[in-house]
Amino acid sequence: MGLVAFTEIGSVLMMRSSSNRLSGSAMNDIGVLRNAAIVFDEQIRWVGSMDDYVAGRTAGQWSNVSEISLKGHCVMPGFVDSHTHIVFAGSRANEYGRRLQGVSYQQIASEGGGILSTMRAVRDSSVEELADMGIRYALSAMKYGTTTIEVKSGYGLSVASELAQLRAIRLVREQVPMRVMSTFLGAHDIPPEYRDNRAGYIDVLCEEMLPIIAEEGLADFCDVFTDTGYYTIAETEYILGKAADYGLRSKVHADELSYVGAAECAVRIGAISADHLLCISEQGMKNMASSVTVGTLLPGTAYNLRLPYAPARAMIEAGMTVALATDCNPGSCLSENMQMMISLACTNMRMTVEEALAASTINGAAALGLTDKGQLSPGKDADMIIMSNEEYANIAYHFGVNHIEQVWIKGKKQ
Ligand code: NIG
Ligand code: FE
Repeated sequence: MGLVAFTEIGSVLMMRSSSNRLSGSAMNDIGVLRNAAIVFDEQIRWVGSMDDYVAGRTAGQWSNVSEISLKGHCVMPGFVDSHTHIVFAGSRANEYGRRLQGVSYQQIASEGGGILSTMRAVRDSSVEELADMGIRYALSAMKYGTTTIEVKSGYGLSVASELAQLRAIRLVREQVPMRVMSTFLGAHDIPPEYRDNRAGYIDVLCEEMLPIIAEEGLADFCDVFTDTGYYTIAETEYILGKAADYGLRSKVHADELSYVGAAECAVRIGAISADHLLCISEQGMKNMASSVTVGTLLPGTAYNLRLPYAPARAMIEAGMTVALATDCNPGSCLSENMQMMISLACTNMRMTVEEALAASTINGAAALGLTDKGQLSPGKDADMIIMSNEEYANIAYHFGVNHIEQVWIKGKKQ
């Protein structure tokens, strides 16, 4: 692939960090370069001022580069959506209607709706049908600027259906230009067949599903929904310990609906991320701040369930590494639009626009252990999104519209 140069860029957000994450107050250091140029092939080769680029060109440095003028627009790393459930089936619009009338998410779940409702639809679907749904959502997410996306299983809850979901995620990975990461979430709920035999289902997870998943390389991570009415701390530690033996890194759906000490648990086991955190404790924040565990906030879920938001300000002040993701799923947040999450994070969690953008790029990559994504500096993948205007704050300020005009993945225009 030949070299391409974006020239006359109004502003580039570099998101540069030698530790491949921005934590606490450093989340504001997003590396804004005005009147700039970027030279790239599959990777970023050079970033600097327009003056330096022109000087280099005059000295013969960029003789075989094809130039594209961006006419003053803003360029940033593609969004890294590190938490989604986009491989699913069916619709839960009816549950949304009931929730608007005041029925709680937990009440609907206890009546056999919720995750189990999607489970029934997934069990009735083929791998291809599941993959089609995932591809549709992934390509839609890409139009809103997402260039890396994580997808979880967790709606099959049987050996055959969890494997079907993971194989569908593999098909999505093969058929979209984005980087797709896969997470095994067999511990999303207890399936009805095992309602009176939790230990039996946990055995199936650990002794039947995990060996096949590891053998076929179907997942990068293992996740557990650790909450009242779902999995306990002891069960979480047991399942994620077994998964680690098979080489899967840990993630936790932590302290979402109630405080159970799941953030502290995630830190103890060295999880790569703890997600949701609406009910995190002060101690949980302190522990997370001095750990490798990224705190992934999903403001679309709080918005859609009409719950109090995660305490993002306290987390950042404590020094945590905070990421933002969509949680795109049919039950608690059906949105694949990272720009919407950024706007919610700013307006409703009082994050600065800079913090929200760092959380959606470099810190999303950290939540997936990816050091080649989420930054625009030499050697990183050329995953870039170009806004339709110069002002990056518009993503939060001028909300509800799509500001992304072009998406480039590994140096190729999509
Ligand atoms: O991340 N919290 C658990 N799981 C999903 C919701 C799943 C569903 O309702 O289908 C979430 O919010
Ligand atoms: Fe989730």
